[in-house]
Amino acid sequence: MISAAASERIEQLLTQMTLEEKAGQLSQSPNMAEVKESDVESGRVGSVICAASAFAGNERQARVRAGQINHLQKIAIEKSRLGIPLIFARDVIHGHRTVAPIPLGQASSFSPSHVQKAAEIAAFEAAADGIRWVFTPMLDISRDPRWGRMAESYGEDPFLTAELAEATVHGLQGDDPAKPENVVACAKHFAGYGAVEAGRDYNAGEITRYTFRNIYLPPFHRAVKAGLGSIMSAFLEIGGVPATANRWLLRELLKEDWGFQGPVIADWDAVGELICHGIAEGAADAARIGLSAGVDIDMATGAYVEHVPTLVREGKLSESVVDDAVRRVLRLKFMAGLFDRPYADAELADRVMFLPASQNAVRELAERSIVLLKNEGLLPLRGHKKLGIFGPLAHAKAELFGTWTLDGVAEDVVTVAEALKKALPEGVEAVESPNVDESLSLSRFCDAVVVVVGEATGRSGENNDVVDIGLPPGQLEFLKGFKALKVPVVAVVLGGRALDLSWLQENVEAIVMAWHPGVMGGLAIADILTGKVNPSGKLPVTLPRSVGQVPLYYNRKATGRPLNPNERGMTRYVDSLDSPLYPFGYGLSYSRFEYSGLRIEGRTVSATVKNVGDSAGEEVVQLYVRDEVASLSRPVRELKGFERVSLAPGEASTVKFELGDDQLGYYGPSETWVVEPGWFTVWIGGDSEATLSGRFQVS
Ligand code: GLC
Repeated sequence: MISAAASERIEQLLTQMTLEEKAGQLSQSPNMAEVKESDVESGRVGSVICAASAFAGNERQARVRAGQINHLQKIAIEKSRLGIPLIFARDVIHGHRTVAPIPLGQASSFSPSHVQKAAEIAAFEAAADGIRWVFTPMLDISRDPRWGRMAESYGEDPFLTAELAEATVHGLQGDDPAKPENVVACAKHFAGYGAVEAGRDYNAGEITRYTFRNIYLPPFHRAVKAGLGSIMSAFLEIGGVPATANRWLLRELLKEDWGFQGPVIADWDAVGELICHGIAEGAADAARIGLSAGVDIDMATGAYVEHVPTLVREGKLSESVVDDAVRRVLRLKFMAGLFDRPYADAELADRVMFLPASQNAVRELAERSIVLLKNEGLLPLRGHKKLGIFGPLAHAKAELFGTWTLDGVAEDVVTVAEALKKALPEGVEAVESPNVDESLSLSRFCDAVVVVVGEATGRSGENNDVVDIGLPPGQLEFLKGFKALKVPVVAVVLGGRALDLSWLQENVEAIVMAWHPGVMGGLAIADILTGKVNPSGKLPVTLPRSVGQVPLYYNRKATGRPLNPNERGMTRYVDSLDSPLYPFGYGLSYSRFEYSGLRIEGRTVSATVKNVGDSAGEEVVQLYVRDEVASLSRPVRELKGFERVSLAPGEASTVKFELGDDQLGYYGPSETWVVEPGWFTVWIGGDSEATLSGRFQVS
């Protein structure tokens, strides 16, 4: 991770540092405006998060410029006693100035290469502004769409999340995070934060160790193996232990078992929140508990810098624990190359922001992240003379960004309406109106209407949970107006969570789930609607029929009375089918793909996929596996492989997957990874309800 010379330098610095200077390195100050130059000079600040508040995700934030960062850095280098550089962090969750689709949308692409490219762009734009540490990727498995932060996740599946975790870490850190175009990543929120009860942010969660090991932890382990530079502890409490005080999680598992060498940073004020959790008497106690448990950096509380020196002097905290934390912080700074190159190039930023190549890359990702859920022949738009373009988000700009886009510039956005009008063939008249009743009266004279509905940015993300996952108020009524007029409707849905689209599924001719597609999202949506791009996105989360089914996810357990979720007589609910509205992994194309010839030879499983449609398209071929009998009950199926294949009309391709220990094992009774002998079932297909299957035995 860092050179021997750097390690030596760290040990040397440790011998020179006072307790106060050590505590200073463990302290992260919020907001550039609040950082006192005197604190930097006295070594009381180790790092700065460039965020004006704990809710940076949904507030417009002033852009941080390299000049501001260099000013404070100069004080640290030239005026502090040991000249240890600061490191500046920011929540660059899905892009800096060139805003990519929200992570939930990126996950729909099932394309690690496109996700990695978007992360590379985010890294070099942020680094140009002097940000060398980003609090990304968010790796929380999220099964509850009431939770606003599903938007930031890669969805409900551990395998897909792990694949994208690796891609994002590689994209952000490159082959060397010390290079000026790279940054250090920080996976979060360690761990299990997506399990907050009732989808209520910051709530407690109950996760068995079996589920923790097999569902919530694997993506973080993959990120660590990919060279992750840092990790952030979660707010939530599991089994009475807040993650920020969880010694087993942070020291025994992460640092000892997994061998993680970087620092653990607490989430915003999570050290201070140990008091509210009722496990710390006061700030000094919280500092002692947090640092002892393995939290190396205190974000925004100020408890470490205030209390650690006294705690050590009073014998309540061993200095070796403090030294280990300081070592990790200094490693992070060496990893970011800050001892050799502490300053950002203030002239660089304006030359690298929002480059055409960056726009194209996130546009390609956006195109692949859009999921076609339903299409009764209306798409791609062809042969219409008069096309209505209506809906509350048809002319939206910033709303396309989604949550956590501190540095996006709304003026960069081409709205769905503008993009669609530009993309429509000659002779098609676009009819628009900013209000509902006029839209309906105008729609009577349209051949079809595109209605852009869904969530605005401020309704998703941190601290934005809902009890009703239906469309926001009024939108369903609006759509029912077109239904009453028998106007064919293409519903384009924007959102940061799995929404309840059950009425649309029954009543609307075409449904496109575009999530919050980023700065190029309007253009990507227009490309899809006009057929310039054939949709290929797949759902990274299950879409339930109603919030009453939540949590609903595909990798469920068989139980003692297995469900036949689509059969009325077998359903458990007396008022709903048990099946999802749309399953994990589902997404349509303008083509159609047929699967055949599944073969298992040794540990290789293969099948043929054929494009039986009349347009070229890309299909995400998915592999699912079930361990039929094991020491512990295993899910009815789990995603263990996927491959995006491009096929011309009539073209067929044989896709192969290896069934190694990684695909067949699980964390068993002794919490170690085991592949147990017995029969396995495998499926290959275009979603998690694939039927083409085979069985094989592991001896
Ligand atoms: C927030 C979020 C976390 C973010 C941090 C800094 O509360 O939970 O994801 O990185 O604070 O903004």
